[in-house]
Amino acid sequence: MKKKILSGMRPTGRLHLGHLVGALKNWSLLQNDYECFFMVADWHALMSEYKDASGLNEFSLDNVIDWLSCGIDPDKAIIFIQSQIPEHLELYMVLSCITPLGWLERCPTYKEQLRELKTRQLNNYAFLGYPVLQAADILLYKSEVVPVGEDQLPHLELTREIAKRFNHLYNKKVFPQPQAKLTKTSRLLGLDGRKMSKSYDNYIGLSDTAEGISKKVMSMFTDPRRIKRTDPGRPQVCNVYSYYKVFADEKTCAVVEIECKGAKRGCTDCKKEFACLLNDYLKPIQEKRKELKSDKNRIIRILEKGREKARSAAMATMDEVRQTIGL
Ligand code: TRP
Ligand code: SF4
Repeated sequence: MKKKILSGMRPTGRLHLGHLVGALKNWSLLQNDYECFFMVADWHALMSEYKDASGLNEFSLDNVIDWLSCGIDPDKAIIFIQSQIPEHLELYMVLSCITPLGWLERCPTYKEQLRELKTRQLNNYAFLGYPVLQAADILLYKSEVVPVGEDQLPHLELTREIAKRFNHLYNKKVFPQPQAKLTKTSRLLGLDGRKMSKSYDNYIGLSDTAEGISKKVMSMFTDPRRIKRTDPGRPQVCNVYSYYKVFADEKTCAVVEIECKGAKRGCTDCKKEFACLLNDYLKPIQEKRKELKSDKNRIIRILEKGREKARSAAMATMDEVRQTIGL
């Protein structure tokens, strides 16, 4: 039997290159070797977007379209929307009972979000429980492997603690100890060198136009010590070069590296060349996206099938949970 995987994304906006490189490329490989559940975490999005949640539905569908365009295959993976499976909330409630407040208050992601996202009021009850809902997502499907970025490691740690506590309290091994699976590909930073994020406005969107993408690439910082064209460059500190490393083949990277170090290529030309390369890379993805966009019924059918499969797995776990705790 294949091991199970669950991962999710919050539908707070359109997807960008960071999602493609950090998650979707990885997901599309994993779907061949694992039983995969890929979930739109709209309840998690609601915790921060509750004041204006009107975009969540549209972003949910739009994100699923991007997943499919980037190679997630509905015949291999189970694709579903969290809020269509009420058992997530039921397990969340049960797990809330056994999670000490201190574990949540000490969670580094919670403290960081409170500091960073000053624009939203996050001192609500649900937001503190964010990792408990995430634990419920993972444990509901008894997933053993969870592909996530490094920023999610504290949530995985908490999930294991909660699973351990449940099994111990009720003296039955209901839940596995899920392990994080970090993405191996090199990290892609934002245009300005910080983490690529919608809130920093430093991203390249998967559905950006070719001209838009070229413009953004041309605005990227390069080696700051390279002032004149005749100065030798340092590709190892250049963000543009790190993009080459992700999207270009080895031969191209080697040429860029040598020419940069030998001052044989200017940054403007280098960026122009990269913009073309990136647009070529994204072309098939964007074509697939366009095709799917015009076939909404297909998306709805895929999500309906995902809902059924996820629901039956979720119901089976909840039966076991209720029985175990004596409800
Ligand atoms: N918290 C995750 C993020 O912001 C999204 C998420 C929700 C998730 N539930 C999950 C990821 C379960 C992995 C497993 O990226
Ligand atoms: Fe970066 Fe290319 Fe300029 Fe070298 S030539 S510093 S790799 S943009």
